[in-house]
Amino acid sequence: MSAPFGSSLSGRVALVTGAARGIGEAIARELHQNGAKVAVTDVDEHGAQAVAASLDASGDSTMGFALDVRKKEDFESALERVTRQWSTLDIVVNNAGYAKRTPTDQIAPDEFDEIIAINLRSVFFSCQVFSTHMKEKGHGRIINITSLASHNGGTVASPHYSAAKGGATTLTRYFARQLAGTGVTVNAVSPGPVASAKERLKNMLEDIKRQVPVGRIADTSEIAAAVSLLASDRAGYIVGATIDVNGGLYMR
Ligand SMILES: NC(=O)c1ccc[n+]([C@@H]2O[C@H](COP(=O)([O-])OP(=O)(O)OC[C@H]3O[C@@H](n4cnc5c(N)ncnc54)[C@H](O)[C@@H]3O)[C@@H](O)[C@H]2O)c1
Repeated sequence: MSAPFGSSLSGRVALVTGAARGIGEAIARELHQNGAKVAVTDVDEHGAQAVAASLDASGDSTMGFALDVRKKEDFESALERVTRQWSTLDIVVNNAGYAKRTPTDQIAPDEFDEIIAINLRSVFFSCQVFSTHMKEKGHGRIINITSLASHNGGTVASPHYSAAKGGATTLTRYFARQLAGTGVTVNAVSPGPVASAKERLKNMLEDIKRQVPVGRIADTSEIAAAVSLLASDRAGYIVGATIDVNGGLYMR
């Protein structure tokens, strides 16, 4: 897919979390295709390395390594690793996420905390760690992948997941405001149902498809295209925004 608005990410360095498959993989692919060097990261180290190698077998313009978004120290070591190799880090996409569809009356405290750690606390520490570097450089793009569930309260999603994504939207606006004027922008992309979802969700997606005005489920590349726009140099005046990519399922 070509870069939106003729933007090129040539010379830029990006890091994507949860990029071993699904939407994260499509984002890594899109940013790389648009000219960025890309660090492909995931808690699944082999998956991250495989995606990185599939983008560039030589390894000159990609790297793949383990980054568990539950751990602040993993963000710190990732920053160290990427800047040691490529001198800078311009674009961070906080994509890693985990949804568990436990009936509300059966959600235990440990599970609630785990969902918050992966989907919300991760966004805070990523923004905290990476924005410090970006501020020093005077340029940066942080893009958080939230969810339609954060706006409608969650129809098929569980309450802890929906609440975590709502919190990620709030953090997007918090950091956007804090960093405005530094050259660093923070925005979100909020997908509706996407075809990346695991096999066990296939039947559910068929039901949802009938409700989507566009009449189909999104392809992962369509989420990546919105990320690519926000990542571009041309997007410097888009601050604290959320781009809804939901086929008209929810308009606001
Ligand atoms: N698929 C959808 O319909 C949909 C809809 C709305 C929002 N989203 C959001 O989009 C993002 C990507 O979703 P997807 O459908 O590609 O999911 P997916 O389950 O296919 O992929 C998620 C990736 O995140 C990784 N991951 C999980 N826990 C991690 C951790 N602790 N640290 C690092 N990586 C971890 C997984 O290994 C996996 O590679 C998520 O934030 C999700 O909440 C997805």
